[in-house]
Amino acid sequence: MEYIINAPVTAASAGLVYGVITIESPELAGAASPGQFLHIRCEGYQLRRPISIAGVAGDRLTVIYEIKGKGTRWLSQRKAGDVLDVLGPLGHGFPEARGKVLLVGGGVGVPPMHFCAQRLEDCDAVLAFRSKDRALLTEEMGALCKAVTVMTDDGSLGEKGFAAQGVSAMLAQGRYDAVFACGPKIMLKTTFEAARAAGVPCWVSLEERMGCGLGACLTCATPIRGADGQKVMKEACKDGPVFRGEEVIWDG
Ligand SMILES: Cc1cc2nc3c(=O)[nH]c(=O)nc-3n(C[C@H](O)[C@H](O)[C@H](O)COP(=O)(O)OP(=O)(O)OC[C@H]3O[C@@H](n4cnc5c(N)ncnc54)[C@H](O)[C@@H]3O)c2cc1C
Ligand code: FES
Repeated sequence: MEYIINAPVTAASAGLVYGVITIESPELAGAASPGQFLHIRCEGYQLRRPISIAGVAGDRLTVIYEIKGKGTRWLSQRKAGDVLDVLGPLGHGFPEARGKVLLVGGGVGVPPMHFCAQRLEDCDAVLAFRSKDRALLTEEMGALCKAVTVMTDDGSLGEKGFAAQGVSAMLAQGRYDAVFACGPKIMLKTTFEAARAAGVPCWVSLEERMGCGLGACLTCATPIRGADGQKVMKEACKDGPVFRGEEVIWDG
């Protein structure tokens, strides 16, 4: 399927970092739920690139990506009106939550948390970045959440420290019914541990390398704890990318 890019790609300020693409598609926008992703074909490359849905407004979806390798660089060179070849929305996203949710995003794990915040009535957030120049969506999250804690590794924005410190502080202050997280695996693990210690159920989005995105190639196979406690391999693209924290074999 092909969809028209309606807004130009805008790489963030000096030097690098992120690209933003808005895609017009009533079908995709109507079907998308938080935690799902799009599988985008980048010309010249056989493997599509998985990018989380960052938000939906009317018939349009937004994706936000770090310009990292050849595929995302090609994406960053697309112009308004170009046509993209997109599969999606793919995967199982976050569950529908009642009550108050703590959203935890690290780096390019923040965009799917923004989509969660759009759909939730009551949420707070912890947003973690390496440094101020890599921060994204902080104002937008501030507008959608009741409270937002920003953490940076070097203290150049918000509080100095890692996401887990912010998560523990928020969990100690507020009564939460669920924690949703997306970001580097170590951040997901420490977030899950903090949520478990506080007795709050936690769901995490695992961003494994992907091939087909459809459950056929096993590139994204990841060890998961089955209902009987035994290890089973599941496809992050089809069975995930969102899993219950307890299901993940963190050191497997
Ligand atoms: C479910 C999911 C959602 C994602 N959402 C986002 C997002 O919202 N924003 C964002 O910036 N990034 C996201 N990523 C990571 C993104 O897919 C990679 O950064 C991107 O594919 C790199 O492509 P490239 O051609 O620029 O880099 P290259 O290094 O040239 O990529 C080479 C190959 O490795 C794969 N690959 C490289 N890094 C990753 C990675 N971290 N995860 C998965 N595959 C990778 C690529 O798909 C490609 O097949 C997501 C990954 C997954 C699995
Ligand atoms: S990417 Fe092919 S099975 Fe998941």
